[in-house]
Amino acid sequence: MHFERDLIIKLAEKYGTPLYVYSEAVLRERCREMKNLLPGENVRINYSAKANTNLDLLKIIKDEGLDVDAMSPGEIYIEQLAGFENDRIFFIPNNVSEEEMKFAIERDILTSVDSLSQLEMFGKINPGGKVAVRFNPGIGAGHHEKVVTAGEKTKFGVQMDFIPQVKDILKKYNLKLVGINQHMGSLFLDWHIYIEGVKSFLTIAKEFPELEFVDIGGGFGVPYKPDEERLDLSRLAKELEIVIDRFIEQHPNKDIIIKMEPGRYIVAECGVLLGTVHSVKQNYGTTYIGTDIGFNVLVRPVMYDSYHEVAIIKKNNDDGTEEELVTVVGNICESGDILAKDRMLPKSEPGDIITVFNAGAYSYCMSSNYNSRLRPAEVLIDLEGKDRLIRKRDTLESLTQNFILDQD
Ligand code: LLP
Repeated sequence: MHFERDLIIKLAEKYGTPLYVYSEAVLRERCREMKNLLPGENVRINYSAKANTNLDLLKIIKDEGLDVDAMSPGEIYIEQLAGFENDRIFFIPNNVSEEEMKFAIERDILTSVDSLSQLEMFGKINPGGKVAVRFNPGIGAGHHEKVVTAGEKTKFGVQMDFIPQVKDILKKYNLKLVGINQHMGSLFLDWHIYIEGVKSFLTIAKEFPELEFVDIGGGFGVPYKPDEERLDLSRLAKELEIVIDRFIEQHPNKDIIIKMEPGRYIVAECGVLLGTVHSVKQNYGTTYIGTDIGFNVLVRPVMYDSYHEVAIIKKNNDDGTEEELVTVVGNICESGDILAKDRMLPKSEPGDIITVFNAGAYSYCMSSNYNSRLRPAEVLIDLEGKDRLIRKRDTLESLTQNFILDQD
């Protein structure tokens, strides 16, 4: 609805491709869905900005009243640029240096550590300070093993067995543990596993009566395939409410805050990626549609075998009813540079536009300059339907700006 044919052709002509396009209307809708997921004053949604750090999107998300989490000083910096106050940023890094930790501490940004050794580091830098600890309660979830971030086979979080050691370090440095957090992994569409993980995680909170918040993580999935069912958010919310109410009943702090960290759910569906078909060829029985969407532009299919729905927009306006089995590839010098394998798509020719759906999350932010290609531009369709450039395409100058020239 938000990305009709004429608009897509107009945007591709006006800005060139590859091009990321976002709908403000869809973004706001998703923010509101998450904000209204649970009732009550004690719920905070931290948008997990690693999914998409575009400045304009962050400003909209802020306007919708969400807070943010950050994984690195870079994300903190961008979030501050977007206007987030320090007390609305939660720093949840992994294996950071002292300097990086200080970056947050000096700005009074609450930091979560995810190992005993990082807790020691924090204690040495900031004795007497407030801190959070990320635990790994042993249950993970996610669309691919690379994005399962809890359970026995991941580097993340402190194992529950180490709670006594956590307490010792807190005592040694007179630290105040204000929060505990977890993140089970990215993209679940079945709420059962999440609820199990939350239950297991909340048992840790009993060990720490002084907590001001518990952060139950993100991971809420969106359907990428046309036949996938949406995550049943209202059912998830009902189950969560039961678990949380029971938890609060038993916890000494009745005003304890419940935080969540969704990333993908907020931004995935507001974005599409536009590309151009540059060649159509047959190789040993396979029809390849060659586009400008290499894995430097969208790496998810190559990195996780992720499925993204694609559509061909015919430039010549025929109805595109004749379909063929094709493999859509990019322009990178690797055979693995495959965007969509074995798809039935309208017969295509050079000049046609290809649209990739659900390209708002982990898409632009994972793009690169591999093969010295220029990262794409980004455009926002605002609430009035007007398009606006919100990030310039790389240029040959920006590509080479860090070279040390004129050395001799
Ligand atoms: N909190 C923490 C600590 C995380 O590590 C993540 C994601 C999130 C929250 C947000 O998870 P979400 O709600 O977006 O699922 N690049 C992969 C996804 C990696 C997710 C990493 N952590 C992909 O393209 O599928």
